[in-house]
Amino acid sequence: MINVPSINLNNETATHELAKKIAQKISFGMLIYLSGDLGSGKTSFARDFIFELGFKGTVKSPSYSLVEQYKLDIYTVNHFDLYRFKGPEEWHEAGFNEFIDGGSINLIEWPEKGHPYLPISDLIIHLNYVSSIKRNALITANTPKGAECIKDLI
Ligand SMILES: Nc1ncnc2c1ncn2[C@@H]1O[C@H](COP(=O)(O)OP(=O)(O)O)[C@@H](O)[C@H]1O
Ligand SMILES: [Mg+2]
Repeated sequence: MINVPSINLNNETATHELAKKIAQKISFGMLIYLSGDLGSGKTSFARDFIFELGFKGTVKSPSYSLVEQYKLDIYTVNHFDLYRFKGPEEWHEAGFNEFIDGGSINLIEWPEKGHPYLPISDLIIHLNYVSSIKRNALITANTPKGAECIKDLI
């Protein structure tokens, strides 16, 4: 496990740049947890990440649909939001394990709502609210693929 020292995100551009840097280092099959309170910037991060992988349209928050899928040039990205889960077993009931097929890139907001049924993540990105425009990020890599994504951030 590798922890990146806390990263200050002093405005939205900084969050955008972080999402971009990580998206540029990903590899097939990666699973990324996005944790943090409501409004901490999880969906904003996901949006910039998906744009960086080539998506040109509107990235909707999956808070109602639970998952949005993007079939892009190189990668398929699944963007989950588990906030509305009533219990973690919904992960299985919804068949979400089938999305995590080893090839696609998976972003999961509110991963704690699926605990303990979610697969282990390559990266955990935890966003904290600091002030109306400032956030900070705590990032942990759990696998060699995750470590590859963050090596330039350390
Ligand atoms: N530095 C920042 N990084 C990310 N979002 C920020 C930042 N400053 C302000 N914001 C705003 O905070 C809100 C974050 O909302 P969102 O990404 O939907 O959060 P979450 O998905 O964590 O609930 C957005 O309205 C965004 O414009
Ligand atoms: Mg969100």
